[in-house]
Amino acid sequence: MTSSSHTDLSWDEFDELRDPRPAENEFDRVVERAISRRGFLGSVLAFGSGAAVFGSGLLSTTTAARAQAAGFAFTPIGIFTDHDIHVPEGYQWKPLVRWGDALFSEAEGAYSPETGVPVAMSDKVFGENTDGMETFEHDGHVLLTINSEYVNPKINLPAASEGKPQTADEVMLLKNMQGVTVLEIAPQDGTWGVVVDSAYNRRITHETQMTMDGPAAGSDLVKTNADPEGMSPKGTMNNCGSGRTLWGTYLTCEENFNGYFGMVTEREQTPAEKRYGIGGESNYLYEKFDPRYDISAEPNEPHRHGWVTEIDPADPESTPVKHTALGRFKHENAEMVQAADGRIVVYMGDDERGEFIYRYVSNGTWAEGEPTDGLLSDGTLYVAKFNDDQSGEWLALTPETTGMSAEEILVFSRMAGSEVGATTMDRPEWIAANPLRAEVYCALTNNSKRGGDAMPVNAANPRETNEYGQIVRWQPEGGDHGADSFAWDLYVMAGNPAVHSDAYAGSQNVTEGNMFNSPDGMAFSSDGMLWIQTDGDDSNEGDFAGQGNNQMLVGNPETGEIARFLTAPNGAEVTGLTWSPDRKVAFVGIQHPGGSWPDGAGKPRSAVIQVWREDGATIG
Ligand code: FEO
Ligand code: CA
Ligand code: CA
Repeated sequence: MTSSSHTDLSWDEFDELRDPRPAENEFDRVVERAISRRGFLGSVLAFGSGAAVFGSGLLSTTTAARAQAAGFAFTPIGIFTDHDIHVPEGYQWKPLVRWGDALFSEAEGAYSPETGVPVAMSDKVFGENTDGMETFEHDGHVLLTINSEYVNPKINLPAASEGKPQTADEVMLLKNMQGVTVLEIAPQDGTWGVVVDSAYNRRITHETQMTMDGPAAGSDLVKTNADPEGMSPKGTMNNCGSGRTLWGTYLTCEENFNGYFGMVTEREQTPAEKRYGIGGESNYLYEKFDPRYDISAEPNEPHRHGWVTEIDPADPESTPVKHTALGRFKHENAEMVQAADGRIVVYMGDDERGEFIYRYVSNGTWAEGEPTDGLLSDGTLYVAKFNDDQSGEWLALTPETTGMSAEEILVFSRMAGSEVGATTMDRPEWIAANPLRAEVYCALTNNSKRGGDAMPVNAANPRETNEYGQIVRWQPEGGDHGADSFAWDLYVMAGNPAVHSDAYAGSQNVTEGNMFNSPDGMAFSSDGMLWIQTDGDDSNEGDFAGQGNNQMLVGNPETGEIARFLTAPNGAEVTGLTWSPDRKVAFVGIQHPGGSWPDGAGKPRSAVIQVWREDGATIG
């Protein structure tokens, strides 16, 4: 890695540079991976009643023969390439909260398009680059918890040359613009607005004091000079997707934490650092101003990040808890459901080329009103194996199966997953469980490195150089999330039927009218529809011609039909989705917009928007 700044790079580009690669998977190498055309077709939409006609036509299907979106509560929209939001006829939108908006009255007016937010106010405003979020109700108050995944230094630090932080204050500003925001919202002028100065409003940043639980808490692997007990980590970082516990707390997921650590004094990377992409120079040069982020001084500090962290939005004084039992990797989101016997189950993806899908199962059981102690600290972590015959298994990560200690399994989960032969996936992003039946969906966003000996194709990840992505889904045996086996299929393979006539055209439910690339965010609405958000190539050129800006679509799990609901401003991804308690308003995150959206005032501002129907009906 050169000494030039990486601050111009997107996280995906940064990750390509760092190139964390899975250890070569012995199980991939020994299995003959010739996926037949029949097998390939058979894995698409096997569950839905409107399943593709297997063995006929995917590769030669005309547009007219492809499924047409129907049966949705809205008229699907076309693509757009502009710097605005578009929603269906009969729907409206407006911003709810933008980067730099005040959470407390002392910070009102702190943001300006010329200078951004001053450091003194940077933990009293809404952070940048909104991502996963959830709605909670507490004592008659409506609370939103919202991740701020990362920052764009150039627009946060207009004074610093090329967006590189030059002082400890500027580093602190960047730290404060990320993390998590808890804010109260209330009806205002017919829509929703932020309750400035609410006692619930809170920022949780890279500096907030936390605690840890589970088998790796207090282990030698997480001890540092500042915390010799290994129980008091500071900060949650690169908060990507979200989750909610059944008992009403928020789960924030630490994704590309590796990018915040640098190596000031050069030394060899350890195998674990290589596997996790830790080393070189950090994305924001934190290590130059704060030794906590220098792995040559504090090699264990990165072990204190990459966890699922629980926050109680109802208690502003509560200390967030990092749950080591859920494993350490680039956590996308955390989808909690319950096994038939009452055990807690959490599905999680590791967003890296060729990394794995995980499941945590608690030892204890829970029912409404019962204590929650131990539910996220005492259990077993599993990784998924997707067999080519569309069966699958959850492989337990234990000292017996991995040859690693309990702490090592959790701190180095990726390596434990390789030991048991987990299936390498095309970048697992959000996982969403169907509320109407035992069925779980995972967005596999894309994988530039799929194919060849190092990462051969498999039935669930069947395309080399997969630039479009797919959504895999599984049904646990017996409809029980606690079962250790499942059946799987591909709900959709994204593609471009206008450009390709082979597998890159996508599956039958992709048409020239609904096509997209790089599915990422996902959530189910209460009516059992799957909302799909994209974070992909919005050039509208070449292989992506006709796909326009990033977008949000709605998928019908029964028929496989998919319809476009919203398009983002050019440059932005759509990520994060939650609803008002009455389900009449959807809150949608717009991250890294381009142009000067939404203010039209010289600088783009990531924002959460609200979308509603003009007739006041529910929308999810
Ligand atoms: Fe933060 Fe994998 O998206
Ligand atoms: Ca994402
Ligand atoms: Ca993504």
